[in-house]
Amino acid sequence: MTTSDLIVDLSQALAEIWPDGTEKAVHVSQLTVRPGAPLHGRVRVPGDKSISHRALLLGGLAKGASHINGFLPSNDCLATLACLRTLGVKVEIHDATTLTVYGRGLRGLRAPAELLNCTRSGTTMRLLAGILAGQPFESTLTGDEQLLRRPMRRIVEPLRRMGAEIKATDGHAPLTVRGRPLHGYDHTLAVASAQVKSALLLAGLYTDGPTTIRQPGPARDHTERMLAAMGAAIATTGLTVTLSSSPSLFPLSLSIPGDISSAAFPLVAAALVPGSEVTVESVGVNPTRTGLLDVLGAMGADVVRINPVGSEEEQKEQGGQGQSNEPMADVIVYASDLAGVEVGGDTVVRMIDEFPMLAVAATQAHGTTIVCDVAELRVKETDRIATVVAELRALGACIEPLPDGFIVEGPTLLHGGVVDSHGDHRLAMALAVAGLITKEETVIENAECIHDSFPGFSELMRRVGAVIFTTR
Ligand code: S3P
Repeated sequence: MTTSDLIVDLSQALAEIWPDGTEKAVHVSQLTVRPGAPLHGRVRVPGDKSISHRALLLGGLAKGASHINGFLPSNDCLATLACLRTLGVKVEIHDATTLTVYGRGLRGLRAPAELLNCTRSGTTMRLLAGILAGQPFESTLTGDEQLLRRPMRRIVEPLRRMGAEIKATDGHAPLTVRGRPLHGYDHTLAVASAQVKSALLLAGLYTDGPTTIRQPGPARDHTERMLAAMGAAIATTGLTVTLSSSPSLFPLSLSIPGDISSAAFPLVAAALVPGSEVTVESVGVNPTRTGLLDVLGAMGADVVRINPVGSEEEQKEQGGQGQSNEPMADVIVYASDLAGVEVGGDTVVRMIDEFPMLAVAATQAHGTTIVCDVAELRVKETDRIATVVAELRALGACIEPLPDGFIVEGPTLLHGGVVDSHGDHRLAMALAVAGLITKEETVIENAECIHDSFPGFSELMRRVGAVIFTTR
């Protein structure tokens, strides 16, 4: 079976067992949203996407069986799962969110008989490239057109400097990786990218000496936390991470927290729809991911965290071997009057996926919101500066692009209308939230991409009272 067939097969199997029987989101192509009553309720969002990818990949390299609860069964993570199976790793699916990964050890992967299809998942491609750089075989990573447009030079060049042989076309995938004996390297990252950092750390498991990575900003540190939990010799000082190659990794026993990047949608919706109060339970609050909560607070939103689990102190006392080392909490947001805000510097990397949602919030804030230092948005699933500006203008927003961000004047009563996700899951969901505060109905075309990160999105929004339904 090819990796692509495996992905179709897995998503069909998971669509059957995914608790949200009312929405086979894989096939949903148009969503309609109507403004309505206040939002109320307590919900849990699906597991963290970044952690789910890493649990699969590192589980596959561990010595022994890793048990994973709270796995995110989204298209992107299924692409990683399918690639891992093509590399010879057995993964047992107990239900949509509970898996056992039978690790083959650092040197146990099998040469793939097929291309490794990463579909639209940048995390799958970049992290796998790091692992494949250290394998004694050749493999080719490919994906959908959207992924083939994204920049890969940022991993290809440093991996080559570590000794890997990688063929790319003008800095883009498909990437043919021929693993070689690798040597440790001292890298200074040009962009604060967790995907690049993680690719190099994963390659660093196969080097003859230490690998050091110096980051310009605090990119999410899930790989470092998981490697530490698996017994790797990894240390972080400020923004510098050093990994010494490890003879083996312990297996994992993980409960993955809810994804704060998914929680962003119901939480911001609660801030915007008058009279609302929404709690998202057990959401990951790793400080490298909570930039949006800080910015909402600075805008005047009423954001409360309760029931923290896994504070840094608790982890030191209890953080068992193989556990996630990831803090979580329940987050409550109440409807609030918002004021414009300036966002730039180190905050942007701590909320890199939340800018479509922030842009919608800014249309309702009094005054000017200025977002800068975030040129990275131009190389996400879409050029998010261009697509967010175009689609929010189509709803009546006052938003101007900047080379590295955007400026929004608010508040504006958005009028509703027909908008397009451009195949970008986070834009599709941000537009759906916008539809809750428009004068008239909003239709989001090409909404099937929501399943890349958040299966069950519209069902969850309906549970808190949103009027959102599939029209095609
Ligand atoms: C991710 C890192 C970020 C983020 C992406 C997931 C990860 O990308 O945007 O959704 O899991 O490492 P960059 O590393 O390109 O900033």
